[in-house]
Order: sequence, then C-alpha cells, then structure tokens
Amino acid sequence: MKKIAMFGTGYVGLVNGACLAHIGHSVLCCDIDDRKIGTLNAGRIPIYEPGLDLIVRSAVTEGKLAFTSDLAAAVERSDLLFIAVGTPMGHDGAADLRYVQAVAEFIGRHLRTPKTVVVKSTVPVGTSRKVERWIAGQMADPSVRFDVASNPEFLREGSAVSDFLNMERCIVGADREETIEEVASCFAPLDVPIHRTGRESAEMIKYAANAFLATKISFINAIANLCERMGADVEDVAEGIGSDSRIGRSFLKAGIGYGGSCFPKDTHALRWMAENAGYAFPLLEAVIRTNREQKFVLLGKLAEAVGSLQGTKIGVLGLAFKPNTDDMREAPSLDIVPALLGGGAEVRVYDPVAMEEARKAFGEEVTYASDPYEAIAGCDACLILTEWPQFLELDLDRVRELLKRPILLDGRNCFPPERMRRHFLTYYSVGREPVVFEPSEQYA
Ligand code: UDX
Repeated sequence: MKKIAMFGTGYVGLVNGACLAHIGHSVLCCDIDDRKIGTLNAGRIPIYEPGLDLIVRSAVTEGKLAFTSDLAAAVERSDLLFIAVGTPMGHDGAADLRYVQAVAEFIGRHLRTPKTVVVKSTVPVGTSRKVERWIAGQMADPSVRFDVASNPEFLREGSAVSDFLNMERCIVGADREETIEEVASCFAPLDVPIHRTGRESAEMIKYAANAFLATKISFINAIANLCERMGADVEDVAEGIGSDSRIGRSFLKAGIGYGGSCFPKDTHALRWMAENAGYAFPLLEAVIRTNREQKFVLLGKLAEAVGSLQGTKIGVLGLAFKPNTDDMREAPSLDIVPALLGGGAEVRVYDPVAMEEARKAFGEEVTYASDPYEAIAGCDACLILTEWPQFLELDLDRVRELLKRPILLDGRNCFPPERMRRHFLTYYSVGREPVVFEPSEQYA
C-alpha cells in the first residue's frame, strides 16, 4: 500500500483522497486553507456528495486518512504526490494554472527524496511537462530523482464515490514505464483496466472525453429543437438512436443544456487550446453555442404561455446544475432566474439542497420557499430546471390547485406529456409536443 499526499481538498482532491484511503492506501489530504482543514478535522465535509461522509469517517477511524495544512510534512512522508487543486477558467477561456504552479514549486522546494508527482487536476495538454520544469526550477538538490505523471479523473458530481469504486478505466500517462506502473498500482485494488499512454495523450483524453459528452448533449438538444418544429418526440428519437450500440444511450437526454464545473470549463479550454494550436474546431464552437442558446429556449415557451412577464409570479423548481449536488456552477438557473427578474417577474425558488448556494447567487432578489408547493403557490407558471427525484413525485393535482394559471414548463422532461392532460395542466417540455389545457376540457 502506498503513502499518498493529495494536494487540494476541493471536490477532486477530497473524493480521490478519501477513496484511495478507502481502498487501503495511507493518504494525507492537504490544503493551504486552514479553515477547510479545521472543518475536515472536526468531521464535517464541506461539499455535498452522497456517500463521501461515510468513507471519510471510516478511513479516518482506521487511520488511513488524515487532513493537514502542513504541506511540507506531506511532501516528506509520501511516495506519491497528487496535485488536485482547481484550474478555474481564466478570462480568455484558458485554464488558470496558478494553483498548479504554486503546488509544483512548493514540491520542488521541499523535495529531498525521490517522488512521483501525479497531476490529477484538469490541465491543458502539455502542462505536466511544465509541472516538471516548475518543480526542477525550485529544487535545492537537482540530483534528487522525481517523475511527473498525468492521471485525469472522470468522476461525476453526485455519484463520485461510486464512480471511483466502480471505475471503468483509468488513464495513466508518463514517459517512464516504472512511473506508469507505480501510479497504476494505486488503483490495483479496483481491478480496473489501465490505459497506459504518453502524458500529452492522457491530458488530451480528459478534454476529448468531456467535449465528446458535451457534443452528445448539444446534438440531442439540437435534434429536440427540430423535433418540436416537425412533430417528432425527442425521447423516442433518443431511444431509437441510442439502442444502436455504436451511438449508445447515455448522454442523450434533451434538456436546457449542460452546466457544472467541467463541461463548460473544459469545452472552453479545449477551444482555447485549439485556437492556440492554429485549429479553429468549428464543431466544438457549435457545441458551445448550442448549449448557450438552449438555456433560453424554455423562456421562449414561457413567453408563449404567459405573454409578458411583467407583474407575473414564477415558481422555479431546481437550481443545482443537476440532481444530487448543491453545485450551481454554470447551472442554467443562473441565466434563467435573472432573465425572469429582468422581464419583471417576481421569482420564487426551491431546490432540495442548493438553497444556500442560491442565496449567494440571487441574494434578496428572489423568494426562497421551504418546499416545492410553497414555491409555486399563487404563481402564473412553474418552471422545472433540475430533475430532482422528488419533483418526479410531485402531486400534480396539488400543483394544479396551487398555481394561479395551470402552466408547467419542464426543462428536463420529467413527466410523460399524456399525464398532464389528466391533471388539466398546460405542459411545455423539451423536444416534445406541448400539451395545451383548454378550460372546457376540465368539465367535459
Ligand atoms: C462530468 C463528466 O461526466 C465527468 O466524467 C467529468 O469528470 C466531470 O464532468 P459532472 O459535471 O459531474 O461530470 O456531471 P454529468 O452527470 O456528466 O452532467 C453534466 C451536465 O450535463 C449536467 O448539467 C447534466 O444535466 C447535463 N446532461 C447530462 C444533459 O443535459 N443530458 C444528458 O444526457 C447528460
């Protein structure tokens, strides 16, 4: 079993650190943020991720996992040093590498014995070579051997722990065979296929994977927009094309576009890399544009259903970028709610876990409800922006009674449209024929 230091206790660092400890390694998660380390040492998990608290607790109890802000000690006692700090999107779309560089230089200054440095953060192609130079540039004793590997991560928020434990593939890129084998051995307990590559390929795999998944989503959203115009049903189309194993069913769920901390950032970063490499990448450009526009398609339907927003009251259900997370980064709600407010609507919002995050984004501009029914009471329309399981269980008769006007706009295709007729609701979804309620139907 290995001695591992994980630099960065953000999403990637914390999940990977805890999971590596869970499968038997001795892991020290470190961060320069004393407060965060204090929180973790007090047994609290600063992010919402199902199952993470359990594995953190048991790994800490077993003495496999600890948290520290003493980064130098972490370098000293560990054989493998994972860099898992954030790489936020810079103003030009490029990944901002300042935190990666800071950790690399710190490692360089404290390197006394041979180590393997593993870049886990999502970084532009070519960065692990820069990391090598940043480390070497700070070393007091240049004879100490070290090597840098790339090991991108593919965990999804909301299912990160089970994604790790049931990993489908693990990418390890390095120049030396021994380095690849050392990093691969960390994942041996998972019995996962290891893809051994060069460093540049490993780095590219991460961007290509996310850009490809984003492409599938934008593609099905474009097909959805076309389905609406041509009388087809996007759910049937997705099922029909997805059952061709060459295409596959996953990531063909039409909606109001992808958000989160990865797809938007990584597609922009890849576009930036392509531009720098002298390649325009028009396909990726279209994916990004389609996603930007898709968020507003629902607003067009809202205008069709209620007319001017001025003086209306709109209930919004779901604010997180997807279910099972409180993460609102690049969530469609961040564009849709301000657009509703800008149009003169009074907005009432509810999300099962992202309310605290929502307050940071919307402040006093919206009303925060304590359940979905309170959010829609007396509203001219209800908008569903995230497909939380509890919304699928909504009592639609109660929804109908509480709404001032019986209008439901579903950005995530949570319900079969036929059901809406039985509940006398006007229902707009994505890529499917709208159901328009005529009051005479209710009494027929
Ligand atoms: C993603 C990748 O899946 C993961 O491998 C990578 O490491 C990080 O980025 P994540 O952002 O957590 O993970 O969420 P994911 O479940 O992939 O969904 C991303 C976005 O796409 C969400 O906004 C989701 O609503 C949207 N989506 C996903 C769709 O609109 N349709 C789909 O069919 C799938």
